[in-house]
Amino acid sequence: MQFSDFKEIDLSAIELIENEVHAYPWTRGNFLDSIKSSHTCFMMKANEEIIGYAVIMFVLDECHILNISIKKSMQKKGYGSDLLKEVIRRSELAHSKTIYLEVRMSNHAAIQLYDKHGFNEMSIRKDYYRAKEGREDAVLMGLEI
Ligand SMILES: CC(C)(COP(=O)(O)OP(=O)(O)OC[C@H]1O[C@@H](n2cnc3c(N)ncnc32)[C@H](O)[C@@H]1OP(=O)(O)O)[C@@H](O)C(=O)NCCC(=O)NCCS
Repeated sequence: MQFSDFKEIDLSAIELIENEVHAYPWTRGNFLDSIKSSHTCFMMKANEEIIGYAVIMFVLDECHILNISIKKSMQKKGYGSDLLKEVIRRSELAHSKTIYLEVRMSNHAAIQLYDKHGFNEMSIRKDYYRAKEGREDAVLMGLEI
């Protein structure tokens, strides 16, 4: 398994994964904005194939996870944990004190993943996300490192 920064050239493959795993996927424009804004954008490859990626943003002594996704056929094999561990490793290198993220309240898989890695539920952001019917709350989670 290898980690490396992704570039515009990788976005076709990344968009395929994004559209398959998110009900409200990021657009190519969202990824391009992140690359242009110098967010940390990296992918995880196994046997030369992109199987996941993360976009994180460092602000002062905080790290914010903006996107973290694993290709559908590769889920539930431990790769999400590997990707999250890499996020934590990079945050430590950057001397971040806390990692934050927002997650849909209905996204049990992601909440379980963060919980397993020591993240705590910090607050609820009411009606934070678009949803099929109306809006959905976000859970704000954080990890002190
Ligand atoms: C969330 C996500 C990254 C997890 O990736 P993954 O590769 O399936 O995760 P892993 O196999 O490493 O599992 C790690 C832990 O996550 C939790 N988990 C993963 N899938 C789960 C599921 N379907 N139901 C409940 N818990 C789950 C478990 O705690 C698991 O640990 P365990 O195997 O010891 O039970 C993946 O489901 C995904 O890409 N989802 C779509 C995108 C998304 O929701 N991103 C997060 C937005 S905040």
